Amino acid sequence: MNIAVVGGGKRCKDFMDVIQRHTFLEVHPKIVAVADIRPDAPGLVAAMEKGLFITSSYDDFFDRDDIDLIVELTGSMDIYNDILAKKKKNVRAIADRTAQLFWEISRVSTMQKKTNQELQEARALYNMALNDLIQEEVLVIDHRFRIIDTNDAFLEKFGLTRDQVIGQFCHKITHHLENPCSGENHPCPLIQTLETEEPSQTTHIHLDKDNRKIYYSISTYPLIEEGDVIGAVEISRDITKDINVQKMMMQQEKLASVGRLSAGVAHEINNPLTTILTTAMLIQEDLDPEDPTYKELSIIASEALRCRKIVTNLLNFARQAQPDKKIHNINDIIGSCISLTQKQAAFKDISVTHDLADNLPPALVDKGQIEQAMINLIINAVEATPAGGKIHITTRPADWKEFIEVSVADTGEGIDESRLNQIFDPFYTTKENGTGLGLAITHGVIEQHGGVITVQSEPGKGTNFVITIPTEKKAGHEQ
Ligand SMILES: Nc1ncnc2c1ncn2[C@@H]1O[C@H](COP(=O)(O)OP(=O)(O)OP(=O)(O)O)[C@@H](O)[C@H]1O
Ligand SMILES: [Mg+2]
Repeated sequence: MNIAVVGGGKRCKDFMDVIQRHTFLEVHPKIVAVADIRPDAPGLVAAMEKGLFITSSYDDFFDRDDIDLIVELTGSMDIYNDILAKKKKNVRAIADRTAQLFWEISRVSTMQKKTNQELQEARALYNMALNDLIQEEVLVIDHRFRIIDTNDAFLEKFGLTRDQVIGQFCHKITHHLENPCSGENHPCPLIQTLETEEPSQTTHIHLDKDNRKIYYSISTYPLIEEGDVIGAVEISRDITKDINVQKMMMQQEKLASVGRLSAGVAHEINNPLTTILTTAMLIQEDLDPEDPTYKELSIIASEALRCRKIVTNLLNFARQAQPDKKIHNINDIIGSCISLTQKQAAFKDISVTHDLADNLPPALVDKGQIEQAMINLIINAVEATPAGGKIHITTRPADWKEFIEVSVADTGEGIDESRLNQIFDPFYTTKENGTGLGLAITHGVIEQHGGVITVQSEPGKGTNFVITIPTEKKAGHEQ
């Protein structure tokens, strides 16, 4: 059985490794072709090294007659539908989403009227998918909720052996319940699938040992034999990371729209403010400084100046669109930020130490913007740290290849978890004189540089902001 893969990413490479590792008795699945538009996609590179057919367009697959199965691994339903429309009749196609992939494989394996060869193939694919290809936890359940098959990922997660699981009720094993799961936090998608004969999906929220929310996506797919539902395949996936990424994306979206709004408003306000300021000063010129009106005019002028400062900050925040990037050593930039903020720190008797890596690769950055981002972090740290506290700044090549990591850690008051996702919001501040724009600006700057900023904090102990930005080599490639 010859397989062509669309999407040469890491999953393609894993897929190739899995097939290579697996011993097949009767059938010999073999990857013969890989398509990806990125020439450096790891699966594509591996395929090239093996001398397989590689292409930037999967359209090339349809002309070949050595392909039995096309596996779509990009996750795009559009691509999958396009493949279904273009492929020859005798070529099978399966889609990326592992859940769906598995469902289709198990459906193939229960299909009727198969030749011996087809049955062997289906069984081999089924076993491979169940135990090697799918990292998610899988249960195959009959219509009375008894487990008829499972995979290593599931057994590992629950610390059970196959014998302890097969034949048991799923709710008993997964939730220690005597009856199928129910309730708002634990609706049972299986019941729905058995009733409707359609795939179903739900999300369960569990708490881990540190009381952090873990989100599980649970999908169920009906197993149909001779027109009757004989059970279902249930696939659970920990989607906590995806949910956090989604939250981050919503945050970015929010920042972008506030940025646009601020730019408009700030611009409109700047002109009248300048008129107020200059008019107040002009009237003052005709007055004696001892005149009470003179003092009142001074108040008008200083308040107008204060508004101008807020407006300037807003414009800074909104104007992050066009960084002027040049090659710099981040260590130099950090060095100047430390000296610029030294006074504030010394004033509060806070020691600022640093540990800057000698082997730091250069970065392609807008010096002024990175300085502004760093100073915001350092000033925040100073403001959050009591006298005698410490701030420690480090740089190092990141664990991700071709990225640089900068961290600003303080021994200050910390931020409790409920506030962590608010601190990057524009105008969120807990300070009397704060504008709440510091972190929003920092976040925007780092994003403009293709980087990310993360924060870890323990209330009462301190906070650590970590910035990860690409090196010049990486940023240069992507421009
Ligand atoms: N290192 C830190 N330790 C504790 N809390 C922090 C730290 N950094 C930021 N915060 C919290 O995040 C909030 C938002 O920070 P941000 O820099 O955006 O605004 P601000 O510092 O309040 O105002 P501005 O930057 O205009 O002076 C702060 O008010 C504070 O509550
Ligand atoms: Mg600040």
